[in-house]
Amino acid sequence: MCGIVGYIGGKEAQSILISGLKRLEYRGYDSAGIVTIDKKAKTTLLRAKGKVAELDSKVATHQTSDTAGIGHTRWATHGEPNKRNAHPHHVGDIYLVHNGIIENYQDLKRTLAKHDYTFKSDTDSEVLTALIDYLYKDASSLLEAVSGALKMVVGAYGIALFSVKNPDEIIIARNGSPLIVGVAEDEVFIASDASALVGYTDRVIYLHDGEIGVCTREGIQLYDVDTQVVEAKVEKLELDLQSIQKEGFDHFLLKEIYDQPNSLRSTLSGRINPQTNSVKLGGLNMSDDELRDVRNIMIIGCGTAYYAGMMAGYFIEQFTDDVSVRSEIASELRYRSFHVPDNTVALIVSQSGETADTLACLEELKRRGVKCLGVVNAVGSTIAREVDGGVYVHVGAEISVASTKAFTSQVAAVTMFGLMVARAKGVSSKDLNTYINELDMLPGEIEAVLERSAGEIQQIAKKYAKYDHALYVGRDTHYPIALEGALKLKEVSYIQAEGYAAGELKHGPIALIDDRFFEVCYLQDNWLYEKTQSNIIEMNTRGAHAIVITDTDKRIAAEEVIRIKTKLELLTPLVFNVVSQLLAYYIAVARGNDVDQPRNLAKSVTVE
Ligand code: AGP
Repeated sequence: MCGIVGYIGGKEAQSILISGLKRLEYRGYDSAGIVTIDKKAKTTLLRAKGKVAELDSKVATHQTSDTAGIGHTRWATHGEPNKRNAHPHHVGDIYLVHNGIIENYQDLKRTLAKHDYTFKSDTDSEVLTALIDYLYKDASSLLEAVSGALKMVVGAYGIALFSVKNPDEIIIARNGSPLIVGVAEDEVFIASDASALVGYTDRVIYLHDGEIGVCTREGIQLYDVDTQVVEAKVEKLELDLQSIQKEGFDHFLLKEIYDQPNSLRSTLSGRINPQTNSVKLGGLNMSDDELRDVRNIMIIGCGTAYYAGMMAGYFIEQFTDDVSVRSEIASELRYRSFHVPDNTVALIVSQSGETADTLACLEELKRRGVKCLGVVNAVGSTIAREVDGGVYVHVGAEISVASTKAFTSQVAAVTMFGLMVARAKGVSSKDLNTYINELDMLPGEIEAVLERSAGEIQQIAKKYAKYDHALYVGRDTHYPIALEGALKLKEVSYIQAEGYAAGELKHGPIALIDDRFFEVCYLQDNWLYEKTQSNIIEMNTRGAHAIVITDTDKRIAAEEVIRIKTKLELLTPLVFNVVSQLLAYYIAVARGNDVDQPRNLAKSVTVE
């Protein structure tokens, strides 16, 4: 997704803006730009297609001592990725950067053209810039012009802008695309993501939808869209510099895979207690009676978040006997006609807390009066602020576009919610003890896999990096893991990979198997062992190049067998998933891909 940065204060702005954009690179983008303004309203606008490094090389030859400016990394939605469409946009007196989509920009463009506006780019953002410039001609202030423009706009936006008529103020506004302001002594920092503020200040203000901020060297004044003053709530930023640096790893993805034991401990900390066999989630805002009345759980998310919900849903239905769980892909649910039975709780799973499709489902479910709980990582994010209650997974900044530590902790958090429902329903602690014990052991079990198997997996990855197709198969609680494993691989390696229920092979997918494919099979030594083993035999007889991930010592006929020793039984799929993560990572590295910022992807999909 696009990234926004801004600064107004006493320091040299260009380096602050470039450093902020570098912090936002992980979100995915295809062009970048900054504009600064000096006290005499002289501006320096620099834009570049490609990486922030390209932009930085332009700064080197266009240095200024300006102390105010805005910057942007663009992930193309309207108009192809090139310099002409890069932000900041400049029309008349106005310079502007924008995240989001202006749905009615064509109508606005036609109206502005009648007032002699012409357009250099294909973007909706330039139209918004022109609209503000047009209204500013008759407005008493830039705030008034921005307010008037935003009332005419249909769509999502996060914007930062200034006018050359007043180089001492930057105006920001949000509706659907996050904006955070960092406040310090005589300076204000603006960003679309908290990671750009780390190291500058830990005092932040999260803008809410419909708010406009006027930022000056004295601070920020918030208004609603009718320019009525709104109180700004200063909060403490929980991120720190260490959490957004690679700390010696080659990529954030590998760092975050290795971070899982600790990030999972952080998710579980203070919430499960195997000694007392208890689970306690603060922040649900649900009484025991309300938990007891739960009969249906909807778990909603996109991508990895969706798979995490599906995975946890299997566990919840294992340890409850009157709760039905259904997992929903947010981008499907938001447009589908669906019914919500009585006694339903909706779990909204999202690492970023800003995913547009997931947020849209939350808003629809709230409209229907459904109790909505967030399972979110980004503190203060839109979803986190709009739910009725919820659980922060507390895994720290997840920088790599491919989600890993958040997945594991999302499964744990949703499972803990299910355990609380089960306890409230009187399910015996004996029946729940295994899940609580295994959750408690899980960080150590993941640590063991990372220590014992990473080298072996790296070697195997080199052998399979040459393939362009893969099939991931698993049964029961290994089916969501097969889906997630395939997503990890395709995201970072660009290998076409499908996750499939192993029992489905004979219903079509087995026709695919030939030398173009390799297969990953999850084979746990449990009640489905023989059934899954027969699937592997089916594939092998058709020339499969199968990698089997298993916890058994039994002889297995496959091209590669990765044996994982684990004390777990029920949560074994979450340990096998770490193998898939490492396999995807090392294959992507072997293929020379941009592992942390895969092509076409964004860390947080804040547009439809
Ligand atoms: C996962 O590796 C992907 N980056 C993607 O599927 C992601 O999980 C999805 O976009 C949902 O993001 P969220 O958790 O921030 O809502």
